[in-house]
Amino acid sequence: MKTLVRLVLGLLVLKVAVANPRFSRQADLDSYDDGNYDVDDINSENQEYDYEDGPTIEDPEASLEEQEEEEEELPLKPQLIPQGSGGSGVLMGPDTQKGMPTCLLCTCLGGSVYCDDLKLDSIPPLPKDTTHFYARYNRITKINKSDFASMNKLKRIDLTANAISSIDSQTFMGLPELEELVIRENHISQMPALPETMTLIDASHNNIDSKGILKEAFKDMTGLLYLYLTDNEIDYIPVPLPDSLRSLHLQRNNIQSMHEDTFCNLHDFNYIRNALEDIRLDGNPINLSRTPQAYICLPRIPVGDLI
Ligand SMILES: *[C@@H]1O[C@H](CO)[C@@H](O)[C@H](O)[C@H]1NC(C)=O
Ligand SMILES: *[C@@H]1O[C@H](CO)[C@@H](O)[C@H](O)[C@H]1NC(C)=O
Repeated sequence: MKTLVRLVLGLLVLKVAVANPRFSRQADLDSYDDGNYDVDDINSENQEYDYEDGPTIEDPEASLEEQEEEEEELPLKPQLIPQGSGGSGVLMGPDTQKGMPTCLLCTCLGGSVYCDDLKLDSIPPLPKDTTHFYARYNRITKINKSDFASMNKLKRIDLTANAISSIDSQTFMGLPELEELVIRENHISQMPALPETMTLIDASHNNIDSKGILKEAFKDMTGLLYLYLTDNEIDYIPVPLPDSLRSLHLQRNNIQSMHEDTFCNLHDFNYIRNALEDIRLDGNPINLSRTPQAYICLPRIPVGDLI
């Protein structure tokens, strides 16, 4: 009986659509817009980074809701899953330890793999062509060297808000395209070694002290723009800083003093460090008035106590 009613209703709708071509064209346009809008939306929401004001802390619950929406919508929109060259292995990515393909567990869109809020306790195996990987708000405790082995296209890794306490030190060194690493809000005490291709490093809200940062760790990163290390236990500003650096955020650490040539070059008064316009040292036990020569080459004096 129900089927019959549906059939009759369906025929009626069809009839209206046929009789009124404008109605049917409008309906097509609507669904077309819908599909496209979702792709843009998901991409811009997740890849956007608020460079001006530093990273914004996302509300885990809001993010949970987003994720649920995505999951509900996806099965209805198979066209959003990137088309592989055939075979479900290519389409769905490699299998996780629990035997489920990564792109069934996570959301794969183009080169981006989104695994936010999935109670993951390790990094899932990623499709070879992954460029952006997100696994925020999970329960990952350890990063293995093998987790990102030969991921030659990976540009961005975001592991915000997990429980990571150890990262194999060479994990990221074999990634030729890596530019952005976000490991904020974890329990990391040792910064991993990073390739020279980095443009953004965010390791804020961890347990990193100065012994946990390799000597001259950032020196050769000639394209580094953003270095965020707020809310750690760092005692010294990590020098030398590359000339490319725009933002250095070190709020709420344990920095008590600095050298007069931390930023500038006291042997060369013509040296100007134009790019570094955003230095945050507030919340450190340092008296910036003690090193008046330290800022002469900067476009702006660091934010901090001048007492
Ligand atoms: C890390 O790798 C070892 C083998 O090298 C493996 O036994 C272990 O399960 C891996 N841990 C995670 C969290 O993947
Ligand atoms: C900060 O340094 C300035 C210049 O050396 C000094 O006059 C001032 O007393 C210092 N303030 C504190 C709280 O140590």
